[in-house]
Parts: sequence; structure tokens; C-alpha cells
Amino acid sequence: MARNNACCLLVGLLALFHTWGATADVEVNMMDRVEAFRGEAVSISCMFTSSEGVGGIMIQWFYVTLSGEKQKIYYQDATMKVVDKGTQFTDRISVSGTGGTGEVVLTISDVELRDEVEFICLIKGLTEGTGEGRTKLRVFVSPELPNIEGVQTGISVNQDGPSKIGTCEVKNGYPRPNITWYRNNTPLRGNHDVVKVLPSITTESSGLFSVKSELRMKVVKEDKDDLFYCEVKYFVPGAEIMTETNTINITVYYPSTAVSVWVESPKGNIKEGDSIELQCRGNGNMPSSILSITHKSVNLPLSNNVLLLDNVTRLHGGVYECTSTDTDTFEELSGNTSVSVHYLDPAVVMPEDAVVAQGEEITATCNALSSLKTRTSWMKNGKEVSKAHTLVLKDATFDSAGMYVCVVNVLDIEGMETSGTLNVKVEGAPKITTPLDTEIEESYKSTVHLSCSVRGFPTPTVTWTTSDGKILNSTSETENEGEVQSSVSVTVTGDMAASCNASNKFGADSATFNIKATIHTTTPATTTTSTPITSSTVKSQSEISAEAVKKESKGVIIAVIIVCILLLAILGSVLYFLYKKGKICGRSGKQDLTKEKSGRDNIVVEMKSDNTEEAVLLGVNGEKQPLGNQ
Ligand SMILES: *[C@@H]1O[C@H](CO)[C@@H](O)[C@H](O)[C@H]1NC(C)=O
Ligand SMILES: *[C@@H]1O[C@H](CO)[C@@H](O)[C@H](O)[C@H]1NC(C)=O
Ligand SMILES: *[C@@H]1O[C@H](CO)[C@@H](O)[C@H](O)[C@H]1NC(C)=O
Repeated sequence: MARNNACCLLVGLLALFHTWGATADVEVNMMDRVEAFRGEAVSISCMFTSSEGVGGIMIQWFYVTLSGEKQKIYYQDATMKVVDKGTQFTDRISVSGTGGTGEVVLTISDVELRDEVEFICLIKGLTEGTGEGRTKLRVFVSPELPNIEGVQTGISVNQDGPSKIGTCEVKNGYPRPNITWYRNNTPLRGNHDVVKVLPSITTESSGLFSVKSELRMKVVKEDKDDLFYCEVKYFVPGAEIMTETNTINITVYYPSTAVSVWVESPKGNIKEGDSIELQCRGNGNMPSSILSITHKSVNLPLSNNVLLLDNVTRLHGGVYECTSTDTDTFEELSGNTSVSVHYLDPAVVMPEDAVVAQGEEITATCNALSSLKTRTSWMKNGKEVSKAHTLVLKDATFDSAGMYVCVVNVLDIEGMETSGTLNVKVEGAPKITTPLDTEIEESYKSTVHLSCSVRGFPTPTVTWTTSDGKILNSTSETENEGEVQSSVSVTVTGDMAASCNASNKFGADSATFNIKATIHTTTPATTTTSTPITSSTVKSQSEISAEAVKKESKGVIIAVIIVCILLLAILGSVLYFLYKKGKICGRSGKQDLTKEKSGRDNIVVEMKSDNTEEAVLLGVNGEKQPLGNQ
């Protein structure tokens, strides 16, 4: 079906006036142009004015061949209608209308590309003469969708001439479609050093056109983000159609202007033993440039621009320089970073072992070399005894003896620490710390375990003897923190005494266990026999306590008296308070006191004691203090 636009109509009307001017005989009026898609049918109308009747008119249709000749395709008069044989239109045309209506219409079905010719309608009257009109037929074929292909390889900014960016192609259109390249929505035209658009047109065997366009451009770094596409324009009957391809981008290779190298991990302080990852990057994108890292003039291999260093030492510290070398231009660029590997050497304690006489002074130092600020502290039995790197122990006593641990840690790095030890031995005669002389009562024939702790240096030899001069073999002997503990087992064969005697080159000390044998026949008998023994025990304990008190300094006595007075005052006020409250006092208070003292007694003396009364008195006599603290 033919589609005529307003433009064609106007042109046709102008032609009509022209025709009137040229021939006065018969006026013929035709469209200048008729448009149709290939394969469709098109009608070309021929209008004329004649005063003659139908019978006097002869109608002829021609077309103009490529060589410009008129080829008749149809004839009609009052008597016949003839389609000429042997033309391209022979089977595809029909003419409707007669001279009477003043209009005849030539219809061509299944329009072909070669039908794009000029048609002539010739009207001949018998008397009025001849008139003719002409119409051009335009045939259209819409092309296939266009496609674009970008170059897959990167393009270097160092390339001399314009490099290929991509090609666009649109196939099988008629008439020829046009391709326009766009970069970021701006059309690209030209054929010069920077932009070159190279079109090529192919006429297919079908007569259709395929158009290809190649874009070449000299790229700069900024083009790395450019988007390119093609626009295709083609005509259809009565309109112009525009389609676009999708966009493509390109990879631009450009040289670096700066190179940087940094420690990717760990973040923060680096210490010996860590693994570090150094990364190097240039801000360019040149495949021809290679990166390498040097440290202390040694070239280190990079893999994927990463340098991994495992188990670093302080020797890995220093400047790391990364260099980017372009293998094409031999240009070099570099950047560097400084790496500090922190360290803490093992602590050195001077001296490690010290032997001093009692009352003397010991000085020891502890040093650990580090790249960072450190803190040193000395510990003994888990307690801090000094915060300096020098440890001074004045007026050494047996209490000063033992193991001192010096701990050095780096303030800024958690967990970075080292330690050393100092072993102090204080010379002096043996001193038995537990027990002092003690009284024991045990059943006849039972086995009693006795043990004795001694301090002194050189390590005292501990011997055990019974009252009748027999030597007992110790069952165990251990030494810990300068204190020797020796134990024996004795079978009770009657009232007896066993002594532990400790000696070294400076002197000797001894302690005696008095063992009272008890015979159990019946339960009440045990109780009656036990009572007198208990009282005698109490007496002997009091004597011992008196001896102990004598040994103490005046200061301790004063302190004890003050504590007693304070305790009495508190007791008095508590009793007064309870009295005021109307409560019955005395019995409950006494019970509490007994329990508490009993508990303390168990710690003080290592002996079997099931008599609470005895324990109370032991606690009260204040003997515990010298035992524990000296
Ligand atoms: C294609 O370009 C030619 C030449 O510039 C122009 O004459 C023609 O009209 C264009 N065709 C279309 C479909 O725009
Ligand atoms: C360029 O194209 C590639 C794939 O063709 C795509 O992965 C990339 O995101 C594109 N870049 C831009 C900036 O569009
Ligand atoms: C302890 O042993 C020393 C040396 O062997 C001796 O001189 C001392 O008399 C002994 N003391 C006792 C109580 O046995």
C-alpha cells in the first residue's frame, strides 16, 4: 500500500500547474512521487480532464528504463485493454478506471527494488491531442538492527596515530542507511589525526545496502571512562527512523605519574616474628610497566604487586622503595616507605645467683634491649617488689631469700615481654620455722608423722634422733624456696621424745616433739586419762610461749598490748550494746570466740588436736605471729 505525504502532494500540485502550462491539449495530473515498502502493493493514479467521451480516449502506461528509454507496459482504448508481455511488470499490474471518470489507477503488486522507476501515464484524445504525467516510485526496505563491536585490547596513549575503537554495522537496508558515531552523546565526525570515521558500503546481491563504519581515535587518559555508540538513520515511506546501538567502553593504557608502596598488614606496630605484606601500586595503567621493590639494595620479588615477608626480624626494618619501570620508554618512577620492626631482646639479669650473709645488701640489675620504651618490674612469689630495672635488697634476711623474677614489657605492644630470674640465697645458721617444740599425745602402738621445716644456707643437714639416742631415717626431705622440710614416721612405743636437728657450717637448731602414749580401753577411760595430760600440755605450752615472748622485740609486745586493749574495748562495747538491747549475753559470744580461735590454731601447729580448749589457749598466747612471719 502506498503512503503519500503532504510534501509529495504539494510537489504533485506544482507539477500539475506546470503541465497545464506545457500542454494545452489534455491535462494530466499525477503525484510526483509514490513510496512503498518492498513486497507491498502500490497504486499510481493518473487524473486527466478531457471534453471528449470515453470512446475517444486512448490510455497508455510506460516506465523509464535504466538507459532512459520509455518502455510501454499497458495500453487501453475504447475497444481493448492490453498488458504488454515480456516486461518486469507483466504479471503484477492492473489498471482500473476508464476515461469517463477522468482517473485511471495503475496498481503494482509485490513491489520489487527494481520497480523504483519513473512511470508515465499518456492520454491521447482523438481531437484534443496528447497529455502525459509522470510519477516516481520509491521502494524501501528497513535494515536489520545495527550492532557495535569494540576492540577488546587496551589502547595505549603512547600510540602514534588514531587507534581503532570499534566498528558498527547495519545490514540490508534500502535506500542506504547512515551511521553516526557518538562519544558520550556527542557526535564524532571527521577524518583527521585525532578522529577518523571510515565508512564502507556493500551492495548485497539482493540489491540491499549494508553499511559498516569503523571509528579510529587517538586516545588520552581521560578517554578511559568514555562510552561510545552508533546511531543509524534510514528512511521508510513517509518517515525517517533512528535507532541506536548499545554502548561500549575502552581500556586505555596510560603511564603512572606516581608510585606508592605501603604496609598492607599488619596495621600498627610491627614486631619481630610478624609476617608483613607490602603493596606497591602506580597510579597508571600501562602493561609495559613493571614494579619492583628494593630494600637495602636488594631487589625483592613481587607477586601481584605484593611482597610478603614472613617471620621478620629487626633486619627487615628500613626503607622499601618501589620502582615502576616502563619497558617501552624506560621511564622510571618510584615511591618508598619506611618500615620499623620492633624488638625486645631476652632479659639479662646480673647476677643470676646471689649468696649474701644476713644483714648485707644485694643489688641486681635487669636489662632487655628494645626498640621501644619498656617497663621493668621485679616480682617475688607473684608480688611486685620493685618497679625499677635495678633491684636493691637491703639488710638481707632469710625472708629475702628465694627466686626473683624480672619482667620487662614493651608499653606500646601488648603481649611483647621477656623475663629473667635472680636466685638469692642468704647465708646463716639453720633456723627451724615449724614447729617449735611441741607436745603430742597418741595411742600406744600407733604411727605418728613428724615434720620439721628449716631455713638456712648452706642447706642444713637435718637429722632425727629419739630421746634414747636412736637415729631415725627421714621418710621425705624436700627443699623449696630455701626451706628444707624433713619428715619421719615414729611408732609410739611409750612416752617418748623425738628431735629434729638441723645444722650447717654456721650453726645448728633443733626442735623436740614430746610424745605421750595413751592407752584406750573404754571410751570414758580415755576421757579421764586425757584430761590431766591436757592440762600438763597447756602448762608446757605456756612456758614455751613465755620463752617466745622474751625473744620478741619490745615493739611487738607494745603492739600486742595495744591490740588486746582495743579488742577488750570492742568486746566491752559489744556487751554493753547487747545489754542495752536487753539481750542475754555471754554464752553465745564465748562460743563464737572458741570457734574462731580453733580455726587459727589448726594453721599454726601441725599436730592432731581434737581438744578445742587447748587450741583456744594456743591462739591467744600470740605465738602464731613469730612463726608465720620470720
Ligand atoms: C545519509 O547521509 C546523506 C549524506 O549526508 C544524506 O543525504 C542522507 O539524507 C542521509 N540519510 C539519512 C537516512 O539520514
Ligand atoms: C566497561 O566494560 C566492561 C565490560 O565490557 C565492564 O565490566 C565495565 O564495567 C565497563 N566500564 C564502564 C566504566 O562502563
Ligand atoms: C645437733 O647437731 C649438732 C651437730 O651435729 C650438735 O652439735 C648438737 O649437739 C645437736 N643438738 C641436739 C639437740 O641434738
